[in-house]
Order: sequence, then structure tokens, then C-alpha cells
Amino acid sequence: MSRATRVLVTGAAGQVGVDLQDTLRGVTPLGGDASFQPDGRPVGEHEFEVLGLNRRDLDVTDRDAVLRSLHAARPDVVVHLAAYTAVDRAEEDVENCFNVNEQGTALMSLGASEIGAHLITISTDYVFDGTKGAAYLEFDEPRPLSVYGASKREGERHCTPGDTIVRTSWVMGVRGNNVVHVIAERAASGANVRFVDDQMGTVTAASDLARSLVSLVRARPGGVWHVANSGATTWFDVAAHVGDLLNRGEEFATPISTSELSPPPLATRPARSDLDTNKFTSSFGELPPWRDAVARLVFDRPRRGEVPS
Ligand SMILES: NC(=O)c1ccc[n+]([C@@H]2O[C@H](COP(=O)([O-])OP(=O)(O)OC[C@H]3O[C@@H](n4cnc5c(N)ncnc54)[C@H](OP(=O)(O)O)[C@@H]3O)[C@@H](O)[C@H]2O)c1
Repeated sequence: MSRATRVLVTGAAGQVGVDLQDTLRGVTPLGGDASFQPDGRPVGEHEFEVLGLNRRDLDVTDRDAVLRSLHAARPDVVVHLAAYTAVDRAEEDVENCFNVNEQGTALMSLGASEIGAHLITISTDYVFDGTKGAAYLEFDEPRPLSVYGASKREGERHCTPGDTIVRTSWVMGVRGNNVVHVIAERAASGANVRFVDDQMGTVTAASDLARSLVSLVRARPGGVWHVANSGATTWFDVAAHVGDLLNRGEEFATPISTSELSPPPLATRPARSDLDTNKFTSSFGELPPWRDAVARLVFDRPRRGEVPS
């Protein structure tokens, strides 16, 4: 029997981190679709040996700690999920954001290459400015509008050509704190919501991203890959869909424009940053439609408290 692939995961306590660790251990995460296997192979119970590190275990901005951890753990693959993800707060906390997203990624790439491990790191649709007028391809020119987007782009630039960069967008997990939970709680409480219908993007269920990452851990392809659930949408459409799922009437969700948000968000977001995922889907397989993904997130929410997050 061949030995298990050793996978070191940073940001292990984040929403993608918990779903990825479940998936690598052969467990379907909350909100996951057990039948979604982009490379057609179920995850073997002992296929992977997983070392999940949260911020207490490893601060990815600490050069000595990063290099020491990687040399000690000797993983075959590093999946780097740790990130500064507070998009609006980043506008006033520029140095910390760049330390984590640029320097942290640079250190992970350096450390992985020192030990001969493959690095998979996660980036974002917010590297784009949203003016293309069509879905973004892997080789489209990044032009970030926000501090967060710029910090993630600089992180990408520190990667080697052999590293795998996965750009994803609007990520939501059952165990994360995200917009779908806010909408579902409002729907359950009888309140209504207002959401923008002038920002278009692609929703990504953390569980579907996690299963896609397993395919990339196996294939170690290198280069840039766009990964998201299929179909572009707007935040208003997401809210209206959650309302439908929870049997709220049409009046539950009202569309507004970004200029009506009060107070206005600190960070500027691209008006249209949906990701073209054809490269991933033609190599591995299509992710489920975003409406299915959101339904799984909504209906698995009551089980959130059953599992420590
Ligand atoms: N969420 C989205 O919509 C989205 C969209 C596109 C791309 N992405 C990317 O996808 C990846 C995973 O995102 P996610 O949604 O799982 O994020 P998340 O839930 O915010 O998790 C990120 C994790 O990184 C940890 N972290 C922050 N600073 C750190 C440091 N200096 N050292 C070690 N760990 C640190 C955080 O710990 P604390 O909780 O202690 O801060 C948190 O557990 C990130 O690269 C993110 O940029 C996310």
C-alpha cells in the first residue's frame, strides 16, 4: 500500500479550512454534496495525512516559525488558506493586511519550495476591477480596487510558476460567518432584507471548494485556476433564493444599488467579477449550480451547533 499524502493546511479554523480537513479525512462537510467528485474518485479514508494549523499553531507572518514548521512537518502538499479576509477593515489596517496576505503567502511559497512540497494558495476575484463586462479568465489582467484585493494580488506575485493559485469568490460554509447565515436568520425571524443587485459574482460553497482542492492536491498542476459554483449571480438573487427556500414571500428581499448602502462600505468592490471556471471544469468537472450550493448551506444550518467549529 502506498503511503498517505501528507497535507499541511494553514488557516485550518477558517470556513474553508474546516471543510477541507473533513474532506481530506473522507468525511462530507456540513453543507457538502457527497456525490460531487470532480475527478471521479472518492476520497480514501487513509489517503491523506492531515496537519491542520490555526493561527495559534502558526502565525504565517512569522518567518522563522513558518520555515521551522514546514521543515519539521515535511508535507507533500501545503494548502495555504490563512488570510486577512476582513475586506472593509483592511482599508484602515493596510499594513496588517499586506503582512498576512502578501508576506504570509511569500513565506509559504519559499518554505514549500525549500522542502520540495507543492503549494496551493487561495486568491480572490477581488484582484479584478470588474470592468471587463464578461466573466474573468485566469490570464486576464488583475487590477484590484481594494486593499484586500491588492494584498492578495501581491501574494500571487510571490508564488513560483510551479505553485497552484486558486482564485475563488463569495465563499460560504455552514460553519463560517457569512452572508447566507445572516440572510437565513433574518428570514427565520420574519424580518425583510435589502441587497444590492448591481454587483455580479460567483458564489462558492466552502465544501465544494474543499472537494475541488482535493483534486488539485492530487494533481498538483501549478498555475492559476478559477474555482466557483456554476452560474453568476448577485447578492439580491442570493437573498431572494434564501427567502424562497424558507418560504418567505416575494417582499422578503428588496433590490438596491451599491450607492444606496448606508453607511457606504469602506472597500470598493468590483461591479462584475464572476469567474470563468472552464479551465477547472474541463480538467476536473463542473461544480454544482450556485442555487443547489446555497440550499445545502441553508438546510444544514440547524446542524451547525452539533460540530465544534
Ligand atoms: N471568504 C470569501 O468570500 C473568500 C473569497 C475569495 C477568496 N477567499 C480566500 O479563501 C481563503 C480561505 O478563506 P476563508 O473564507 O476560509 O477565510 P476565514 O474563514 O476568514 O479564515 C481565514 C483564517 O486565517 C486565519 N489567519 C488570519 N491571519 C493569520 C495569521 N497571521 N497566521 C495564521 N492564520 C491566520 C484566521 O484566523 P483568525 O480567525 O484568528 O483571524 C482564519 O482562521 C483565504 O485565502 C481567502 O482570502 C475567501
